[in-house]
Amino acid sequence: YIAAKLCVMAAGILASSTAGADDDLMSAARQIFKPIPSIVPAVKDNPITHDKVALGKALFFDPRLSASGVISCNTCHNLGTGGADAGPRSVGHRWQLGSRRAPTVYNAVFNVAQFWDGRAADLKTQAAGPVQASTEMNATPARLLNTLNSMTDYIVMFSKAFPNDATPITFDNFAKAIEAFEATLITPAAPFDQYLEGDAYALSAQQKAGLKLFIERGCSTCHNGINVGGQDYFPFGVTERPITSLLPRDDKGRFAVTKVPSDEYVFRSAPLRNVALRPPYFHSGQVWSLKQAVGVMSEIQLGAKLNDTEKDDIVAFLNSLTGQLPRIDYPILPVRTDTTPKPSM
Ligand code: HEM
Ligand code: HEM
Repeated sequence: YIAAKLCVMAAGILASSTAGADDDLMSAARQIFKPIPSIVPAVKDNPITHDKVALGKALFFDPRLSASGVISCNTCHNLGTGGADAGPRSVGHRWQLGSRRAPTVYNAVFNVAQFWDGRAADLKTQAAGPVQASTEMNATPARLLNTLNSMTDYIVMFSKAFPNDATPITFDNFAKAIEAFEATLITPAAPFDQYLEGDAYALSAQQKAGLKLFIERGCSTCHNGINVGGQDYFPFGVTERPITSLLPRDDKGRFAVTKVPSDEYVFRSAPLRNVALRPPYFHSGQVWSLKQAVGVMSEIQLGAKLNDTEKDDIVAFLNSLTGQLPRIDYPILPVRTDTTPKPSM
């Protein structure tokens, strides 16, 4: 009887101590990370309305905003492949290879600033860039406005989206509409969000082990907050400089923005939400396996080698960051008219 009782007691202690460890892990996680909200966040100086989002969505998918008539935002930020493109570095106008990989547009609204080096303060500022970039869409604001003004449906959509503006079709409003659409590209309810909201069963034992390692080994020093990254800047290569293919030496990252020597090869810590959906990894896009990316990070950022099981556990945790992607119906775009600028290569 005593033996049996001891057994029950021991099981009880074990259960309560596991539960205690589980509680500790959950409260530690809650201090470091935040769940993705289930409603669209407010954006500064740009109230999100249904009409604005519908317009922004059409613009996001419209290849006629590029000089060639071939490239839309969705070419490089394909919403079907994790909001990024499927190749290492984005291919733009006339097959030109860009210098970096496209970061995802999903949850980009939660990043502290945009781009791998944070050079654009917000999504509106960002949206003005790619249309004009010669290696991306290669258009001019004038060409863009001519294109939009040439199609009656766009004229109607802009007046609905910006009802108080005397001239609704402007470059600024174009950027605002895209920003509004991008603000809807949030992916709540990942298993990890459910966990942060108190459901201890939302993560598997392996994912919890991975989360524990992610915190204890120091990954979360740089990858934290709502996007599990995207909040601050760090050297890419803290304890060891990455090989040239991962870190091309002519791209000095944040140094180009701040001109401060200590910002050489500093990049925004990559946001890891939905990271499993969008290989290849790093701004150079040369690492195709998430497990390998995890190995690279621990070696060059933390100076520690993870064993195989540890890497698998962390990958399992990273898989728990895949949220519910918004349902996007492909928009039917306004029809071109005789005055719509023709594609030019
Ligand atoms: C970066 C949106 C067109 C390639 C970004 C970011 C956003 C974005 C929000 C920053 C994301 C972040 O830092 O987390 C858009 C929109 C577009 C568009 C709204 C259409 C107007 C394109 C096109 C290409 C492209 C056509 C490829 C030819 C890239 C690349 C970056 C980037 C390579 C990273 C650049 C860097 O860090 O220097 N884009 N994009 N984008 N996009 Fe786009
Ligand atoms: C990028 C995971 C530790 C800073 C990444 C990426 C992954 C990752 C998977 C690539 C994401 C993508 O390409 O979309 C991890 C893990 C870590 C860890 C599992 C712990 C073992 C750290 C630490 C720091 C850091 C400690 C800061 C000192 C960065 C930066 C990038 C990045 C700056 C972007 C690099 C680039 O420019 O391509 N991390 N990370 N990471 N991480 Fe970490």
